[in-house]
Amino acid sequence: MQTPSGHPVESTSAKRLVVLASGGGSNLAALLAAHDDAAYGARVVGLVTDRPAAGALDLARDAGVASAVVALKDFDDRAAWNDGVLEAITVFQPDYVILAGFMRILAPGVVRKFEGRMINTHPALLPSFPGAHPVRDTLAHGVKVTGCTVHLVDDGVDTGPIVAQTAVPVLDTDDEPTLTERIKVAERALLVETVGRLAREGLHVTGRKASIGH
Ligand code: GRF
Repeated sequence: MQTPSGHPVESTSAKRLVVLASGGGSNLAALLAAHDDAAYGARVVGLVTDRPAAGALDLARDAGVASAVVALKDFDDRAAWNDGVLEAITVFQPDYVILAGFMRILAPGVVRKFEGRMINTHPALLPSFPGAHPVRDTLAHGVKVTGCTVHLVDDGVDTGPIVAQTAVPVLDTDDEPTLTERIKVAERALLVETVGRLAREGLHVTGRKASIGH
């Protein structure tokens, strides 16, 4: 939806997304490419990053999306940093918080504020290969099929209920960069599709079972 001058208009029914990212932001870019379509049902209203040099900041600025930098070094300790992150997210009044390559662990007190509404994308088929180096770990283990996972965030590291997954074959010729790139293509598509469906249809969680729309 656009005004006559070409500026996007915020649809009143679109769910508000706040994206947390530490890196280049290709997942953020994919969400930004989807959100101008009113039929998508969700809109990125803010970016929060822990890295002042994150490429995601440029993407947000170019898209006219507000951002906040909450760098650990600017706070006395981790508890104060977590408070800062919580405040930065809350200012944007999100319906959903999307962790898209956010490379820090949030305190349980922050996660619980957004219970059932905080989503992470991870480049492996969880529960296999959680943590900071999933593609390296995948290759080291020699598995033949990996992929990506969109899941709810809980107090653990990559342990929350799984919302959606896509499989990606591991090729004999793969190294960490080639496999990372192939997974990221699948990951962006999965994230955009899953977030849109969440926004339009809602999410139902019973124990470890998360299902969209019912
Ligand atoms: C993604 O693969 C994400 O799952 C991982 O880091 C990557 C971030 O990519 N934790 P980008 O910054 O969105 O390009």
